[in-house]
Amino acid sequence: MQEKTSEAAKLLKASRHPVFLSGAGISAESGIPTFRGEDGLWKNYRAEELATAHAFQRDPKLVWQWYNWRRQIISEKKPNAAHYGVVKLQKLIPQMPIITQNVDGFHKKAGAKNVIEMHGNIFETFCFSCRAYSDADTTTEEVQKCGVCKSGLLRPGVVWFGEALPVNAMQQISIELQKADLILVVGTSGQVYPAAGFASVVQSKGGKSIEINIEQPVNVDLGLTGKAGELLPQIVEEYMKL
Ligand code: APR
Ligand code: ZN
Repeated sequence: MQEKTSEAAKLLKASRHPVFLSGAGISAESGIPTFRGEDGLWKNYRAEELATAHAFQRDPKLVWQWYNWRRQIISEKKPNAAHYGVVKLQKLIPQMPIITQNVDGFHKKAGAKNVIEMHGNIFETFCFSCRAYSDADTTTEEVQKCGVCKSGLLRPGVVWFGEALPVNAMQQISIELQKADLILVVGTSGQVYPAAGFASVVQSKGGKSIEINIEQPVNVDLGLTGKAGELLPQIVEEYMKL
């Protein structure tokens, strides 16, 4: 594996504009369940059944309680060696943006800069009707009404299946991908678009792709099979030797 972490470090060093993309797997070693792993179910529901506007309309309390469960877990956990590895890497490569599908806020909490939370943040809330952002009590089981329009229900500030990504985030990402000559993908199953397509965007322009996953990566220039919390710090170490 040392050969591969060293190769990854060399590719990063040679890149003028690398971008970093993470998914739920980077927070797995913090103790946060992934979506498509063995521990991804809540009360036998899959994420796809709960993370939709339709599910919230049908049963807002059920969806809210799922988010309460997830918020509770996240608030009891902290960033791990992978998140801190990213921060160190970014100190060496300050122009590298951190694009994440995760809503746990751990990249920022660890101290990363230029973090694009493309699926939002689980601790924020906005109105299902008028879309105004306001704070809700995210510990109570009751779904709360919006204080602005007085009628809509407050929903989590995340992107659900079937919804468009925040315009700002998409604009920033497209600027970054235009410049990118390398993408480092960590801990995502690559099943949810648009993030699942970012590596091929970079590759189609002749850029390189590196992936870290506990399951053997496919369709990348360099795949590292293993835990993000072990491999990212090793890549940083190798980078510092160059
Ligand atoms: N290190 C590296 N990779 C890991 C680790 C680890 N310690 N643990 C798990 N993984 C990998 C798994 O092999 C899997 O490929 O992380 C990936 C997690 O995949 P998903 O659970 O599908 O998470 P993600 O790709 O982030 O999901 C995308 O789907 O439900 C939506 O909006 C939600 O942002 C989420 C999106
Ligand atoms: Zn409202």
